[in-house]
Amino acid sequence: EFALLNGSIIERSEAKVDVEDRGYQFGDGVYEVIRIYNGKMFTATEHLKRFFKSAESIGISIPFTNLQLKEMLQELLIKNNLETGNIYMQVTRGTAPRNHLFPTENVVPTLVAYTIKGVRPLDGLKSGVKAILTEDIRWLRCDIKSLNLLGNLLAKQKASEQGCFEAIQHRGQDVTEGSSSNIFIVKDGTVITHESNHLILKGITRDVILDLCTKNNIPVQERSFTLVEIESAEEAFLSSTTAEVMPVIEIDGKKINSGIPGPLTRKLQDLFKLEIE
Ligand code: PDD
Repeated sequence: EFALLNGSIIERSEAKVDVEDRGYQFGDGVYEVIRIYNGKMFTATEHLKRFFKSAESIGISIPFTNLQLKEMLQELLIKNNLETGNIYMQVTRGTAPRNHLFPTENVVPTLVAYTIKGVRPLDGLKSGVKAILTEDIRWLRCDIKSLNLLGNLLAKQKASEQGCFEAIQHRGQDVTEGSSSNIFIVKDGTVITHESNHLILKGITRDVILDLCTKNNIPVQERSFTLVEIESAEEAFLSSTTAEVMPVIEIDGKKINSGIPGPLTRKLQDLFKLEIE
């Protein structure tokens, strides 16, 4: 197995980061997860664009161009012979003596990428998954794909401890997003998902789904929706790079669409499958 560390592809076991790396100490960095289908990156352009944008929004300047990084990731994929799985990458502000202030001298960002083998979550995609509702306790820049994931982790762990796949977060009455996914409901035949603002991550899978809706004349609305709306939804599903279009069939113990994936969810799954094949 190989990993990418600061522009070099090396043995993964040789890829070492300092104890004073700011990612390790402060979560001072951003990340991306790119899905690999049939040995190829899916929506790589969109992920790389978001990676650079996230980094820029916290003042980290990635010392490579978008194209250089893409080529290095391609090489990593080939070297690791990855057919199906993910590429994980992150960039931190670099290594410097611990101080909350950004380092002043020319500290280079630490950029790491590696691959993870993994199949599509076929069982969940077929039968659907359960979710809980939980208050969104995160910060107000959820649009940045930050390494600071404590709020997300606590929510996901809580869901898992209740036998559920995902925690659907809400701020007061308004549903925002999952702990590691975007949330959709279907109401009167319209697909609804939170508008892209500072309260959610603008998921790449979310964007693919919204595009598919538009192209196939499925009505969509990007707006926040309430707990009452999700509890009475005709259908619900979540989306992410790893979970794709995942039906949600139960929320806080209450069944959605009698506990089976809904017709519009199925249709979007079929359309999504055509994109990745
Ligand atoms: N998470 N919202 C949050 C908080 C997420 O962490 C993710 C993805 C998404 C969906 O984004 P996308 O469709 O671009 O994957 C939404 C990744 C997969 C993760 O942290 O592993």
